[in-house]
Amino acid sequence: ADPLRLGIAGLGTVGAGVVKIVRRKAKLIEARAGRPVTISAVSARTRDKDRGVSLSGYDWEDDPVALARRDDVDLLVELMGGSDGPAKAATEAALEAGKDVVTANKAMLALHGPDLARAAESRGRVLRFEAAVAGAIPVVKALTEGLAGNEIDRVLGVMNGTCNYILTRMESAGLSYETVFDEANQLGFLEADPTLDVGGIDAGHKLALLAAIAYGVRVPFDEVELEGIERVSIDDIRRARDLGFRIKLLGVARMTGRGLEARMSPCLVRADTPLGQLEGPTNMCVLEGDESGQIVLRGAGAGEGPTASAVMSDVIDIARGTRVSTFGVPADQLGTVSMARSATP
Ligand code: HSE
Repeated sequence: ADPLRLGIAGLGTVGAGVVKIVRRKAKLIEARAGRPVTISAVSARTRDKDRGVSLSGYDWEDDPVALARRDDVDLLVELMGGSDGPAKAATEAALEAGKDVVTANKAMLALHGPDLARAAESRGRVLRFEAAVAGAIPVVKALTEGLAGNEIDRVLGVMNGTCNYILTRMESAGLSYETVFDEANQLGFLEADPTLDVGGIDAGHKLALLAAIAYGVRVPFDEVELEGIERVSIDDIRRARDLGFRIKLLGVARMTGRGLEARMSPCLVRADTPLGQLEGPTNMCVLEGDESGQIVLRGAGAGEGPTASAVMSDVIDIARGTRVSTFGVPADQLGTVSMARSATP
């Protein structure tokens, strides 16, 4: 069978992880995909840098748009990040050139996902984003495929590993927000712009994407209610604990009679529940289908292996010929929705 030839744009933690998997697991991937998956060319800001993996055998492109348009690239793997700029330009160029796209870019998708999906689907191409939401956890596939026969009552969860690390470490070590923030920064969990993490914006992007799939609607991201963890103090955490609760940056999306409620904010969660027991840089997604009942998915929400794992699931799916719509329904059928303010201020 013909190989599926990748162009990888972005060779940070996740990009390097994807290259490693493609190189080390070629046999396993070919067996699962039914055809070889190869890399034709790569692109990143800096060429000469030790990424812990060889790039030999791959052409280099300085310009991700040129990478996206290459004749020997069937699928663009977009791992640059940023809602606009080069990531969006390369994605659009790939779709225009009739290629499929796999991306981990939650910001780009939360803001432009339906339009990009439409650009893909109008050309018979596929745009997939498993890695954009909750790292290794296959939550996008759980909603678009596993729960396709359900009305979704509610989607909730902890979707930013950095914030969960900060909150749980403040509690266990009795350290201040500022100290733990610096620690998280040194551990490399934070986004390039850490306000995306601690401001609840990164997690909000992920919640908006899950809500779009769950309810088949375009979610106006600027109307998602967002509150970060910057003002959570060690005293708040201790008082919550004394009452049998923990503070989590929790996202909740559900359809109400007044419209879609989507909120990401610090919440009290009972300490004896799965969400209450979530420690460290971990994510948990809770999906409630009318037929399935409650499903709880827990796993690593960030990092090289976990995020590259999710990228590869989309790559292999596309190599197999799976043609699932980006949001589970064709993008031109995504409805508009009014947003309901939640009861809490
Ligand atoms: N900064 C994000 C997190 C990375 O901490 O969860 C994964 O999206």
